[in-house]
Amino acid sequence: MSGIRPTGILHLGSYFGALQNYVKLQHEYNCYFMVADLHSLTTHPDTQMLRQSVLHVVSEYLACGLDPEKATLYCQSAVFETSELYFYLNTLAYKGELEKTTTFKDKARAQPQNINAALLTYPVLQAADILLHRAKYVPVGKDQEQHLEMARNFAARFNHRYGEIFPEPIAFNFGQELVKVPSLDGAGKMSKSENQNATIYLSDSDELIRKKIKKAKTDEGPKVPDTPMPDYIENIFQLLKLTGALELYDKFKADYNTCMIRYGDMKKELAEEMIRFIAPIREKAEAIRNDEGYLRDILEAGAAKAGKSAQATMELVRKAVGVKYF
Ligand code: TRP
Repeated sequence: MSGIRPTGILHLGSYFGALQNYVKLQHEYNCYFMVADLHSLTTHPDTQMLRQSVLHVVSEYLACGLDPEKATLYCQSAVFETSELYFYLNTLAYKGELEKTTTFKDKARAQPQNINAALLTYPVLQAADILLHRAKYVPVGKDQEQHLEMARNFAARFNHRYGEIFPEPIAFNFGQELVKVPSLDGAGKMSKSENQNATIYLSDSDELIRKKIKKAKTDEGPKVPDTPMPDYIENIFQLLKLTGALELYDKFKADYNTCMIRYGDMKKELAEEMIRFIAPIREKAEAIRNDEGYLRDILEAGAAKAGKSAQATMELVRKAVGVKYF
């Protein structure tokens, strides 16, 4: 089980860091992938853009290869049992531990005028998402480790107090290091919040991709054979590798090592490789977005399937807690 907040749009980092793995997982496990629209309300009280953002994310999931016949795709707000489990878990979560959560402290600092109770209990809602399906594995990045640890604590406390119902969920990291996608400015990795020009989005037009890659930082090239690469140059090579252009990668690497490299040419080739990779995803996502009936059918079927799994869990939970009187 995993969730993605519908804030911002997907980029190459989200593709190689998460989506690609979701697509693999759907063949091996019974997967639930959810758009965390309720979570986004803890920081975005303005819901005008919510519908558009949710449909955007779902269309990109589908365009990247998530198959609604294999994995269950749904919207958090459509599975009402989430909020019910959230309440029960809230009775087992303590103010002190919630206040200590890193993401809470960061967000409280970022929005001091809106430190609402749902912001504080964000990890409890996330635990509800996971435990609702009694999920064992949660494919997430390192930044979510603390939330997962809290989910394990809430599950253990529930089990201890009311009886064994929940497995303790663990982060699923695919057995190897997650791929890091470097940003185009040589600083850090691609992300939706940092430098927009250094991030390639799955919805970028061909022209925009060319423009962004052209601007990527380079230099005059090495003067001595086999010079170690500076970070920003290594990044460009890494991107070439990610998009699968191995022959080009080898060719430019040889050029680099013999001081023959022409970064202008390399970036031109990289841009075309990127476009070959992104354009089909972008076009597919666009076509899906234009077919609202299709999106609605998928999300309705997903909510029904997720609802079934949730109802089965909640039957057990209500009985265990002792609120099922007859
Ligand atoms: N908190 C996660 C994030 O910021 C999103 C999320 C919500 C999630 N519910 C989840 C992730 C359940 C995994 C499982 O990215």
